Amino acid sequence: KWSMAGFRAAKIAEIRKQVGTGRVICGLSGGVDSAVAAVLIHEAIGEQLTCVYVDHGLMRSGESEEVVGLFRNSYNIPLVHVQASELFLGGLAGVTDPEAKRKFIGKTFIDVFEVEAKKIGGADFLAQGTLYPDVIESVSFTGGPSVTIKSHHNVGGLPERMNMKLVEPLRELFKDEVRALGRELGLPEAFVGRHPFPGPGLAIRIPGEVTEERCDILRKADKIYLEEIRKAGLYDAIWQAFAVLLPVRTVGVMGDHRTYDSVCGLRAVTSVDGMTADVYPFESSFLSAVATRIVNEVRGINRVVYDYTSKPPGTIEWE
Ligand code: XMP
Repeated sequence: KWSMAGFRAAKIAEIRKQVGTGRVICGLSGGVDSAVAAVLIHEAIGEQLTCVYVDHGLMRSGESEEVVGLFRNSYNIPLVHVQASELFLGGLAGVTDPEAKRKFIGKTFIDVFEVEAKKIGGADFLAQGTLYPDVIESVSFTGGPSVTIKSHHNVGGLPERMNMKLVEPLRELFKDEVRALGRELGLPEAFVGRHPFPGPGLAIRIPGEVTEERCDILRKADKIYLEEIRKAGLYDAIWQAFAVLLPVRTVGVMGDHRTYDSVCGLRAVTSVDGMTADVYPFESSFLSAVATRIVNEVRGINRVVYDYTSKPPGTIEWE
């Protein structure tokens, strides 16, 4: 009978067989998937693994500290923390097309991993926490008309030529199974239960051009939204909740001043695997309170809207 303990043992054997005596670099994105992949691979090959956490400047507030803290403090897994926000934000200047953003970010991740691989004397493999839904949504479906919905940064966003071979032990799993595997591996519950966060980060939550200033505005709004969700005890009932910063300015009034600032969109969905999703039905008083806080506390935003679209026809992220 299939069990998570059995899966763990089988994957460890498989990883050892694939990697042999080679060196592996594992990219940590801050999410559950890459963390589970890293811990599993570490169990399989120990010192042959080096984890790389790339701070692309597109993280949520507090994200980097949590991940780096978890690996440095709870695990004895060597972790290289790369500060690459200039590289990513510089390259994103002027880019507005969603797929162009995704492709640039996917490629730049690989560039950074290759530089880090050189520093440790070369790596033969790149490990990623790719899940089954990342694969399905990134490839063109066969049989019907060929459509790519979006290039997930770790699949369709990868460059065509790469020096390292891929190790992707979670490639056949769905999110709920990754969480179960994370528990099996002893990851803290608060980490395992975290909402998914996409590799391209805030870049795909800022339609239009991504700038450091817009990332900062979005981080503030998003932090308030998540704070209120936790305070209301709703975090675990929601699959994913986040704020989006729209490239639209509208007129408002603050005291006796006219304002002309950006619109913030709020998204919250329930889902089992991210493949389909329903809108989370907040009480309207909850949404009003969040909107009031955001407009009062975040300079640059003067209007807040709630996204009432399920998936399909919408997707969870806006890009
Ligand atoms: P969509 O927007 O396609 O998202 O409905 C489904 C789930 O996948 C996440 N997502 C990504 N995760 N790299 C990731 O690691 C990506 O490029 C990516 N794009 C979307 C999204 O946050 C949601 O949980």
